[in-house]
Amino acid sequence: MIKAMTKRVLYLIACGAGTVRGVGQLIDLAQDQGWDVWLILTPSAVGFLDVPALEAKTGHPIRSAYRNPSDPRDFRPKADAVVVAPATYNTINKWASGASDTYALGILSEVFGYGVPIVVIPSVNQAMTAHFAWQRSVRELRAAGASILFGPGEPHPLGGGHKATLAWELALEEVKRVSHSPDLSQSCQ
Ligand SMILES: Cc1cc2nc3c(=O)[nH]c(=O)nc-3n(C[C@H](O)[C@H](O)[C@H](O)COP(=O)(O)O)c2cc1C
Repeated sequence: MIKAMTKRVLYLIACGAGTVRGVGQLIDLAQDQGWDVWLILTPSAVGFLDVPALEAKTGHPIRSAYRNPSDPRDFRPKADAVVVAPATYNTINKWASGASDTYALGILSEVFGYGVPIVVIPSVNQAMTAHFAWQRSVRELRAAGASILFGPGEPHPLGGGHKATLAWELALEEVKRVSHSPDLSQSCQ
């Protein structure tokens, strides 16, 4: 009997930080680990990236805006995990406040209802992290169940964003740590 291989689905939400230019590395790592990656961009992230090249890499359309009401719904499989990387100051604060005015925030507004691991890797400067709104947002999102981790070099120094790199591996290690899903090697059905 031929067995179908089912891949676990990762929603990767990427925001408009300079470090987003390296998001292809995270896609490669995730695909190497057997994830089917669906990339969602904030509108700000689009300007940093070669979207057609990333669509070719993931094999899926990349959404960065809500559809027009008259357009049909896109197919998107259910997520087994959600990673937000890089997560900006703006998106973290808007997410915590309940805003939903980008497609990415629309997904994040529903994410606690999915019951899947949510891993967030911020890319922010040190001055931003001193703001009370940031501290409150991070505290509240963690309390709601998001795993928010700072890689080496983050938060980065003021004006040092162009030198910052993101700890992409950390995102997937954390997904694995908090995931209750079976190991990918067990996912042949
Ligand atoms: C070159 C460049 C680099 C940026 N890097 C960061 C960053 O590292 N972290 C951050 O929070 N915002 C950064 N920003 C500002 C965000 O793009 C801006 O706050 C935007 O509104 C974020 O939108 P989003 O959260 O919807 O992606 C950067 C902007 C530019 C032009």
